Amino acid sequence: MEFTHKRGKRQDDSGLGSVLDVLLANARLVLGVSGAAVLAIATLAVKRLIDRATSPRDDGDPKAEQKTLEESWQDLALIKATQKPPKRQRREDLSEPLLPPAPPPAPEPRACPAPPEPPQAESIPQHCLTLQEKLLLHHSSLLAVHEAQAAFGRQLARSICTELQNFLRNKCPELPFGSLFLSGPLLDGLGALAADHVHFMLPVVLDAALWSLIPGEDTVVRNPRYWLIKRRALEYFPRGCSPWDKFLVGRYLSSNALNETLHKLLVASINWPAIGSLLGSLIRPVVASRELRLEVKHEELELSIALFPVVEMDGRVLLAAPPQGLVENLWLESFGRAEASKVRELDAGDAGARQSCLRVLNNVCRSHPALHRLSGSPLVHVVLHLSAAGGDWAEGSLAARFQQVLEELVGYLEQGVLPSYFNHKVNLFGELLEEEVEEMGFLLYRAVAEPELLLGEK
Ligand SMILES: *[C@@H]1O[C@H](CO)[C@@H](O)[C@H](O)[C@H]1NC(C)=O
Repeated sequence: MEFTHKRGKRQDDSGLGSVLDVLLANARLVLGVSGAAVLAIATLAVKRLIDRATSPRDDGDPKAEQKTLEESWQDLALIKATQKPPKRQRREDLSEPLLPPAPPPAPEPRACPAPPEPPQAESIPQHCLTLQEKLLLHHSSLLAVHEAQAAFGRQLARSICTELQNFLRNKCPELPFGSLFLSGPLLDGLGALAADHVHFMLPVVLDAALWSLIPGEDTVVRNPRYWLIKRRALEYFPRGCSPWDKFLVGRYLSSNALNETLHKLLVASINWPAIGSLLGSLIRPVVASRELRLEVKHEELELSIALFPVVEMDGRVLLAAPPQGLVENLWLESFGRAEASKVRELDAGDAGARQSCLRVLNNVCRSHPALHRLSGSPLVHVVLHLSAAGGDWAEGSLAARFQQVLEELVGYLEQGVLPSYFNHKVNLFGELLEEEVEEMGFLLYRAVAEPELLLGEK
């Protein structure tokens, strides 16, 4: 009896399942992946509802079943309400605030009660959802909330970038910087999509006949993450032959000297109030910062912009971001561009959800102060190592991969070593303090058993 009943039911399910699959495949085309994810969750709820409705009464208590059905419909109604993403604003509507309006002031004691707010994603009873569903929901709400804001942030950052470029061209024609370009989580699509951190990359274009790279590993620093840039052929091409010779310290291109010069320009020479008022925002260079940094306040958002002089040579990308204290004049090798393109390439190859996974993880790390130092590069390298070891990255395995990334992170933290995917000699955890490692390890260790800890459920 049991068996035949189950068989009959399974047939129903598979019929329903294939209809739903077709529906979802089309939804994906129309709604995009994030919309389809929400729809998929709603569809799952429908499936459960039907399951419950068609399953035999175990205890013969019609009241109990009635209650389950009612509950199910409530779940479904809540989920359906979240299906509508917040109305996207277009560029032309920027005079309107992009952010959701501030909550209304508390009602007067005798005022009529306000109509209830429409349910938000958060109001779905979380205990009804699997981790997979929670992650998909988390991801689609991230996308929906931040898309318009990110677009505006990029626009504003580009305008500031253009102003800075014009200033440098006019003020320092003797320094032939290349074209400034934008980088950072806002641009590579792996960030939390919060439009707040932007990097301006300022290319320092070197003549390969006059300069060469020396690996930090071969120097007193003994650190494969850093490089020195050495002036060569001084006998034939004396000092002054390269426009960058004014930043020579000894025979090396000094990242510190370049930083000093740019710091002075940024802090003392550029008329930021004028540029700011042109762009409807307040722009302020941060004086006491190791990085060359600008803070931008606009009615709709705030940006933190870091300016990095960057040298590209021999297929490497080096930033003038020397470590604190140690030897001066070092250049840091950046893997940022390689990271983003590798992840995109892998996802394109197997319709993977690595980027979605990284967005959720980045958002998690940024909203937990203890985990800040993991956001960005370290997460990407863990995902790349895991991808190299095989495993299924399809969207349906998001929860499994998410948990695996957490487990791997705990393992790397335990060893204090996270090798770079692109150069195993580089330890991306090399600059973490012991307390930081312990704090992160402890939180993540708990999260492996209970990932909801990280998704804002306590
Ligand atoms: C850059 O120069 C400023 C001003 O001298 C300094 O405060 C900052 O620490 C320097 N940053 C680096 C990375 O050397």
